[in-house]
Amino acid sequence: MITIEASILSADFARLGEQAREAQAGGADAIQIDVMDGRFVPPITFGASVVRALRRAVDLPLDVHLMIVEPGRHLETFAEAGADRIIVHQEATLHIHYVLKSIRELGIEVGVSINPGTSVFAVEEILDMVDMVQIMTVDPGWGGQPFLHSQMEKIRRLRRMIDERGLDVFIGVDGGIDEQTAPLVVEAGATMLVSGSGIYNDRRSVAENLAALRASSI
Ligand code: DX5
Repeated sequence: MITIEASILSADFARLGEQAREAQAGGADAIQIDVMDGRFVPPITFGASVVRALRRAVDLPLDVHLMIVEPGRHLETFAEAGADRIIVHQEATLHIHYVLKSIRELGIEVGVSINPGTSVFAVEEILDMVDMVQIMTVDPGWGGQPFLHSQMEKIRRLRRMIDERGLDVFIGVDGGIDEQTAPLVVEAGATMLVSGSGIYNDRRSVAENLAALRASSI
């Protein structure tokens, strides 16, 4: 089953709760919250207080994507704020094994993400510790960037790695996902699609964008 997560990075921050509710009404399976610290990536977005506010605004699962250094220092805060899953970057900590174990101990879902320049082999040793791996199909930090087709073989390679080991781990993709690129990544083995500007834009309503994305990824 393909799940679609609405990344609020491209939403109207002046009415974030309303935009999250629009995604919920439009059939999104979850909200992805892009936390950025200005160090792991240049932009600064928001922290746990926005997660707490969105927890009150929607019933959807909240998927917190930590694009921050030293993510291990902030896990409890985001879990207490209402995160149903925390995704940390393999590149953001020297102790990825410990950080993933710590997320699991909080009783929420565990995700790891890798940037376009990072090999899938960087997560080989911790693949059995996570529920999902999120492959960045743009350089993290900004919405609206073009999809990196160079990541397609990486998705296939990761799918093979998971299947060869018989692990119950799914692949998410994040960056440049729209109705043109969604079928490509699904064919390569991704089952979770994260989209920001593909859902929040001035071309169509949130519901229309979600419907188009859903139709393209079947
Ligand atoms: C980028 C974020 C993505 C971003 C995707 O660093 O992690 O979630 O919001 O945006 P689009 O879908 O516009 O490429």
